[in-house]
Amino acid sequence: MKTKITELFGIEHPIIQGGMHFVGFAEMAAAVSNAGGLGIITGLTQGNPENLAKEIRRCREMTNKPFGVNLTFLPSVTPPDYPGYIKSIIDGGVKIVETAGNNPQKWLPALKEAGIKVIHKCTSVRHSLKAESIGCDAVSVDGFECGGHPGEDDVPNFILLPRAAEELKIPFVASGGMADGRSLVAALSLGADGMNMGTRFMATKEAPIHDHVKQALVAASELDTRLVMRPLRNTERVLKNAAVERLLEKEKALGPKIKFEDILPEVAGVYPRIMKQGEMDAGAWSCGMVAGLIRDVPTVKELVDRIMSEAEGIIGKRLGGFMRH
Ligand SMILES: Cc1cc2nc3c(=O)[nH]c(=O)nc-3n(C[C@H](O)[C@H](O)[C@H](O)COP(=O)(O)O)c2cc1C
Repeated sequence: MKTKITELFGIEHPIIQGGMHFVGFAEMAAAVSNAGGLGIITGLTQGNPENLAKEIRRCREMTNKPFGVNLTFLPSVTPPDYPGYIKSIIDGGVKIVETAGNNPQKWLPALKEAGIKVIHKCTSVRHSLKAESIGCDAVSVDGFECGGHPGEDDVPNFILLPRAAEELKIPFVASGGMADGRSLVAALSLGADGMNMGTRFMATKEAPIHDHVKQALVAASELDTRLVMRPLRNTERVLKNAAVERLLEKEKALGPKIKFEDILPEVAGVYPRIMKQGEMDAGAWSCGMVAGLIRDVPTVKELVDRIMSEAEGIIGKRLGGFMRH
């Protein structure tokens, strides 16, 4: 399949693995890139720029295909060493960066000067247009279904993607709720040039996370996610568990008075405990509604090949079959 996204990034299939905290290590990114998609290392998960440089080197030992690095810009009291992370990306010869979380404008000149292609992930048409206007090469349009931070507009992909297609000149991929060949064909028909998956890639053999997490995804249905931190305007879609129930109780009890400090036990530093130790009730962790479509734990290559052959079958046989000749 050839689309503007496969051309832009020099990849075989129009499938991207979005940055994921404590999942986006070299093993994950290399597996996706080796399968013909675009794998992405999560920058901040590495903890500091030196470790990111090491992770980039490790990834390069595992694949000679293109891969990218995610840079998530979060509001924080002591901001991470973004210039340092960017230096590691540039010095490591990485040519693709996925930005997310906030406007990446400040960091674009350095990235562009190094010949890096930037795909910005955002959850609205207005933010996508902003990304286009400041010089991003592509956007990842993240619908309300998505695992992680869906923003505050709550527009699902059936509306968001065609709206993005109406307004954007740069190519975009559909993100949120994508799982299989049906998702890919739907994304393409709504105007996207590919798709970005997070949750689905966690349930793969190569995903470097505890098996408990993979099994939780297989067991979960589309009804099992919850939105947390809405009162803080930092909404996150997570898989329900004991910690999430506690967090939601606090939100109900404290109402608009709630502060980030009130929910620290449920959200701060929980990712390593969940992803590495498999402590499934340790806290809130991002998960998309797409969990309802996850029923197995294949290798990344099996997953990607299955998506592409399913998409081909849908386009060639099912859709083609509807046309009267
Ligand atoms: C466990 C997990 C962690 C994530 N961490 C990040 C992150 O650190 N930065 C980021 O930009 N997106 C993050 N995301 C969002 C994904 O990159 C992607 O946009 C999202 O998962 C797409 O929706 P889907 O899960 O329905 O495929 C995360 C998603 C998950 C499931």
